[in-house]
Amino acid sequence: MRVLGIETSCDETGVALYDTCQGLLGHTLYSQVDMHREYGGVVPELASRDHIRRILPLIRQLFGQLDTSLESVDAIACTQGPGLAGALLTGASFSSALAFARNIPILNIHHLEGHLLSPLLSDPAPDFPFVALLVSGGHTQLMLVDGIGQYRLLGETVDDAAGEAFDKTAKLLGLDYPGGKLLAELATQGRAGRFKLPRPMLNSNDQNFSFSGLKTAAALLIGKHEMNSQTRADIAFAFEDAITDVLVKKSITALNITGLKQLVVAGGVGANSRLRQKLLHHLSGAGITVFFPALEFCTDNGAMIALAGALRLQQFDRCLGSGSFTIKARWNLEDL
Ligand code: KG4
Ligand code: ZN
Repeated sequence: MRVLGIETSCDETGVALYDTCQGLLGHTLYSQVDMHREYGGVVPELASRDHIRRILPLIRQLFGQLDTSLESVDAIACTQGPGLAGALLTGASFSSALAFARNIPILNIHHLEGHLLSPLLSDPAPDFPFVALLVSGGHTQLMLVDGIGQYRLLGETVDDAAGEAFDKTAKLLGLDYPGGKLLAELATQGRAGRFKLPRPMLNSNDQNFSFSGLKTAAALLIGKHEMNSQTRADIAFAFEDAITDVLVKKSITALNITGLKQLVVAGGVGANSRLRQKLLHHLSGAGITVFFPALEFCTDNGAMIALAGALRLQQFDRCLGSGSFTIKARWNLEDL
């Protein structure tokens, strides 16, 4: 069966075609980042309008590349939430209309389930069960993944998400939006040992995180020093060092508690090289396999939504929705 995946939860329009026998056939993506940059963050209304503009051309482009058509699609998987309400509505209404017109089923997908399962697009892929570290712009969670739809929350951030902390600190350092990647690039020029920032909740005896204090500590440091390019890089280094230390330590605790030997890292911050290096350094010697999605599947994309839809179709052999549609701007993964 072929599943068309549609992702519009935030500022990326992503579409993909996944075949339950052949795997991912292709995907296309449009990032609105250039449009939002001048506002220093995502403007929800602009995001919604742009999804409407992009979605059809992206699908045409995908089918053109694959030399196929809508006739080959057996089901549509669409991100139902969580995310920006208006942005989600564009994908949901589009998908619902398309499914109705073609008389094919629709699968409502949880955006974070897409991220969680995205390492299954790579080879080798993890087997169930595994621990997942979900680190995106809106979420930071450690999950125990027993199977499709079987997710148990082990810990999460009590305030800012890791990506949010990266982006806010990057802004304080004068970097463009979204700053996570730019801060990581700046940090490569930074020197170890000049500044030390706190590692919040490092020894809190649970798997929860807190990053807003770290961002404030970085702000205080920035306020105290004359800024030049080396100082900015040193602060970026100290920030990245602190946040990745916490993510690594909590992941190790989660693995110890569950006794599992596989860690999956998903979400945009999963693209961070320092995080990847530290996890591999600490875990490969301990017999733990760490799985990272391919970089193109770390940030939002349609492939992970098509995959989640295809796996749900195979696993549960049933679809949700019947012409009418709803979105869930807030949605707990455990409620699936
Ligand atoms: O998963 P994602 O694409 O969107 C959400 O669902 O939130 O994640 C985006 C987040 C942003 O905060 C971005 O700054 C961060 O991932 N990010 C990074 C890197 N690349 C993207 N953070 C740190 N280092 C990176 N290399
Ligand atoms: Zn995401």
